[in-house]
Amino acid sequence: TIEAIDAWEVLDSRGNPTVRARVHTPDGSGTFTVPAGASTGSHEAVEVRDGGDRFGGLGVTEAVEAVEAELEPAVVGRNVTEQAAIDEALLEADGTEDLSRLGANAVLGVSGAVARTAAAVRDEPLYTYLAPEEPGAIPRPMVNILSGGLHAHGGVEIQDFLVVPRGADTYEEAIETVWTVRRAVRDRIEERGVRPLVADEGGFSPPMEGIEEAFELLRAGILDAGFEPATDDVAFAVDVAATHFYDEDAERYRLETDGVSLDREGMIDRVLGWTESYPIVSIEDPLFEDDWAGWRKLAGRLDGVQLLGDDFLVTDRDRLGRAIESGAASAVLVKMNQAGTITRTLGVIERAQEAGLSPVVSARSGETCDSTMADLAVARGAGQLKVGSLARSERLVKYNRLFEIADELGPTLPNASDPV
Ligand code: PGA
Ligand code: ZN
Repeated sequence: TIEAIDAWEVLDSRGNPTVRARVHTPDGSGTFTVPAGASTGSHEAVEVRDGGDRFGGLGVTEAVEAVEAELEPAVVGRNVTEQAAIDEALLEADGTEDLSRLGANAVLGVSGAVARTAAAVRDEPLYTYLAPEEPGAIPRPMVNILSGGLHAHGGVEIQDFLVVPRGADTYEEAIETVWTVRRAVRDRIEERGVRPLVADEGGFSPPMEGIEEAFELLRAGILDAGFEPATDDVAFAVDVAATHFYDEDAERYRLETDGVSLDREGMIDRVLGWTESYPIVSIEDPLFEDDWAGWRKLAGRLDGVQLLGDDFLVTDRDRLGRAIESGAASAVLVKMNQAGTITRTLGVIERAQEAGLSPVVSARSGETCDSTMADLAVARGAGQLKVGSLARSERLVKYNRLFEIADELGPTLPNASDPV
C-alpha cells in the first residue's frame, strides 16, 4: 500500500532541473528520475517548468509541488502493484490529455517510482515484474557515434549517426564491437588535430564540411576496427531529427552544412541517396513531424530500411494507430516521458508489436542515472534500444544494467534478420 510520495528537484545529465520521486510503502520503496529531451516533438506530453529567473526558467518546483499536493493524494492507500489503475488515477488528477496541467514530468516521476517500488515489494527484478509472462531477449543496441543538431550545439544538422552491431550474436560482442568502432573513430578525429569532445549523448562532434563526411568517417572507423560497413556486420542508423531544421513557413529543409535548402521531394531524394550509398538499416524522423503524406511516400520507396518515428509518433497511441493504418512508418521510438506514464508506454509497445511495427526503446538527450528503460525493453521484448553513445554514466547505466540482465537471462540478442 502506498503510504507517501516524496519529490525533489534534482539535476539531469545536462545539469538542468528535473523531477525525482520516491514512493513509500511498508514493504519497500523506489525512486524514478525523469529525463528531458532537447529535440522534442511538438505533440509530446508536456513537461511543466517554472519559468521566471530561477535556473533560467527551467526549474521544476511547481511539478515537484504537484507531486506532493495533487498526485500523492490521488494514489495514497492504493496497492502499489496496480500500475494501470494508479496511472489512470494520475491521468485523472491531471485532467488534460497532454498532461500540461501538472506536467508529464510530475506524472511520470510518480508512475516510474510506482513501478520500481512494486518490483522491490515483490522482490523481483523490474524486467520480470513488467513482463506479461516471460521477459523477451536483450535488445540489440543502436549506438550513437557522431552527434549533430541540437545535441551538439552546432555542427552537422543530422542529429545522430549511429551504428548497429548486426553481426554480433551476443550482447557482450555487440558492445565490444561498438566500443572498437567508437575508439577507431576517436583516433581518426584526433589524427586531424581535433579534440574528440562529446555532445549531449556522448557522441563525437568534430567540425564537418558536409553530411557525407560524417558517413565516411563512420565507414572508415568501422574498417579501421576490422569490421565491414555492411547491413549484416556493422550497419549504420541515422536520426535525422528533420523537424529541427525544417522551415515551416518556407516549407524547406535547410541543410546548411551541405549548403542546400530542400523541399519535401528533395529531402526524400536525399534520404534515399544516403540509403543507396551507405549500409543504413534504420532512418529516424527524416521528414517534418506533421508531414503525413511525405512519410507515406517515403515509406513506399524505402526498401529493407526501417522507417522510425520519434518526433513524428511521440510514443502516442493515436498517432501510432494512424501511422499503422496509413503505412507511414515501420517502427516507433518509445520514450516514457513522451507518453507520460508507464502504462501508456507499455500500451504503445504492445500496439506496435500487434501491428508488426518494431518498438525501439529510447533514452532522452537529457538523461538521469535511472535504468528503468533497460528493464522495460527486456520485459516487453522490444528488440532494439537507443540510449546514446558508450560514454557518460547516464548512458552507461542503461548498457550496464543489460550486462546484469544478460547474466541472468542469457546474452543472446534477437535474430539479426528481425526488423533491424
Ligand atoms: P531528445 O533526442 O531526447 O533531445 O529528443 C533523442 C532523439 O531525438 O532520439
Ligand atoms: Zn529522435
